[in-house]
Amino acid sequence: ISLKPYNSFGIDVKASHFAEIFNEDDLKELFESDLITTQKILIIGGGSNVLFTQDYQGLVIKISIKGIEFSNEGENILVTAGAGVVWNDFVNYCVEHGFAGVENLSLIPGTVGASPIQNIGAYGVELKDVFDSCTAFEIKTGEIKTFNFSDCHFGYRESIFKSDLKGQYIITSVTFILSAQPKINTSYGAIETELQKRGIETPNIADVSAAVSHIRVSKLPDPSTIGNAGSFFKNPVIDKHEFADVVANHPDVVHYPTADDKIKLAAGWLIEQCGWKGKVVGETGTWKNQALVLVNHGNATGKEVFNFSAQIIDSVKSTFGVTLEREVNIL
Ligand code: EPU
Repeated sequence: ISLKPYNSFGIDVKASHFAEIFNEDDLKELFESDLITTQKILIIGGGSNVLFTQDYQGLVIKISIKGIEFSNEGENILVTAGAGVVWNDFVNYCVEHGFAGVENLSLIPGTVGASPIQNIGAYGVELKDVFDSCTAFEIKTGEIKTFNFSDCHFGYRESIFKSDLKGQYIITSVTFILSAQPKINTSYGAIETELQKRGIETPNIADVSAAVSHIRVSKLPDPSTIGNAGSFFKNPVIDKHEFADVVANHPDVVHYPTADDKIKLAAGWLIEQCGWKGKVVGETGTWKNQALVLVNHGNATGKEVFNFSAQIIDSVKSTFGVTLEREVNIL
């Protein structure tokens, strides 16, 4: 089957086998089939963080486990959502119920089940700030296990599910620890500016969600019309010595200190400085309002996008001496 509807880049490749999972019974059934032992496996949620460069010889498992439930725990609310719930539907549900904590993560593409894998983040908040636990199906044993916060080894766009346990588990649900007492976080300048424009002085979570959604829509291409996978690269984190070299030659380099005494650079800025912002190269290119986002202008192949990304890496390396790492999974 064609995977075009299942990846936000809109790359037209085929999978030799495909299964859609709606509940735990479907997982059990899959576990008992030959496919699980004989085929290479790829799990997808929203398909918003992959670039297919060739047909997939193996089993693609699309996770469509739905449902949201909550319980009160004193000041906190524990909200459990099925892995296949669309992330932004989950955010909207929380905002409507007055559950605070995920409003800054409005409009991130993808699904709930994918959110812990790369510790999604935006506008000063990361998934790990609201993560309580998740359940996951172990492909080898067919058992469902629970992972608590400390089991997940979260880092910047990182978790154990991307490293040591890669490909071994299928996340089935995620439980979030949210609050009835909002801690409004407008530390990210763009939110503050947007709220001011709207004349809002004491924002509630719905205001923050609306501001973030507005910023995202104005900066990022909508995958339903222009194929993309959000930020294509990670923002590079370098140590102080490396930074000294960069800043000596480029005094205006956009940078932020990190908690572990390193420096994070804005990859979008680096790419823009190299002249790539808004460039169209064949069917691919970078987005006109955000150079960190690579796009499919219609009929790009995965190889074309990949080769273009390699050109950007070379260019940033030779201008700044910094190596960009891809954030999107290349297959
Ligand atoms: N910038 C440029 N030119 C560009 C893009 C950005 O100069 O073409 C500058 C901006 O002016 C700003 C800085 O770079 O000073 C940072 O830009 P922005 O606020 O757009 O955020 P980002 O660092 O490029 C990250 C995340 C996004 C997330 C935003 C907002 C990564 C890899 N990306 O982007 O996440 O939405 O912050 O918090 O960490 C994603 O991961 O898919 C994603 C979209």
